[in-house]
Amino acid sequence: MTKTVRKAVFPVAGLGTRFLPATKANAKEMLPVVDKPLIQYAVEEAVEAGITEIIFVTGRSKRSIEDHFDRSVELEAELEGRGKTDLLAEVRSMLPPEVSYLYTRQAEPLGLGHAVLCARPAVGNEPFAVLLPDDLIDNDDRPGCIAQLCEAYARDPASYLAVQNVPADQTDRYGIVSVDDAGARVSRVGGIVEKPKPAAAPSTLAVVGRYLLTPDIFAALERTPRGAGGEIQLTDAIATQVPGGGVRAMRFEGVRYDCGSKLGFLQATVELGVKHHEVGADFRAWLATRG
Ligand code: UTP
Repeated sequence: MTKTVRKAVFPVAGLGTRFLPATKANAKEMLPVVDKPLIQYAVEEAVEAGITEIIFVTGRSKRSIEDHFDRSVELEAELEGRGKTDLLAEVRSMLPPEVSYLYTRQAEPLGLGHAVLCARPAVGNEPFAVLLPDDLIDNDDRPGCIAQLCEAYARDPASYLAVQNVPADQTDRYGIVSVDDAGARVSRVGGIVEKPKPAAAPSTLAVVGRYLLTPDIFAALERTPRGAGGEIQLTDAIATQVPGGGVRAMRFEGVRYDCGSKLGFLQATVELGVKHHEVGADFRAWLATRG
């Protein structure tokens, strides 16, 4: 099995109902945290890990994502004409020449598992990463979450799930795993359940929006019936890889913000705002005046 992960899938076809009305005509993934849309944080994390093929699974109201990852000749000419070289360099650096962008459509939002299955023709028979851009994972200048998963995969090829401990009363918001060694950074997954009630949860180790999957997941997804909420769940397909010992959980390094929720989005905005190279100092000073 190949040890290099070249492709990453970004399922961005969800409706984003928790952010209505902001998401009525625009993509949730284009909501900016400070000065970058959520999707750009995730794409940068993948590119930093060595990913060279970015595959977006899009739905309605997602045109702005395509425009964002396309060259804007008019904008570049305008910035050049005004001598705004820093901004010009930043806009250009978003599109490294070795990275390609591909778009495929999920006709109906039938669930995350179905969205990943839509990427099958683009991924083919190789391992691939999956990033849910509403989970923003900040690790300052250290290797990001996907880089950590890729590194683990290179040593020991398997499917990897990024996990973190969550409060016991929140297990019903996540896929929850049981692992062989809860103290280890990487451990074999013994079971996975989608959104268990706290009393039924096998642990408090929750799967967040970063995965590295072996391609046999596609056959499993094809066989997966609609599960919780009438959707085809990625968790259910991953569960079929568990008995063969093919799934690992990694307690990644970094801070995750659930930007699919208003509270998480506001927390990310504040935390990244106070660190921002341009506005951080002024923002900190302003926050201090508020007590
Ligand atoms: P969410 O559960 O956050 O759903 O999806 P959502 O529709 O985006 O947002 P809410 O809950 O209505 O506010 C998790 C990820 O899976 C993608 C979403 O785009 C998001 O990245 N997804 C979900 C799809 O691509 N297709 C689907 O059918 C469902």
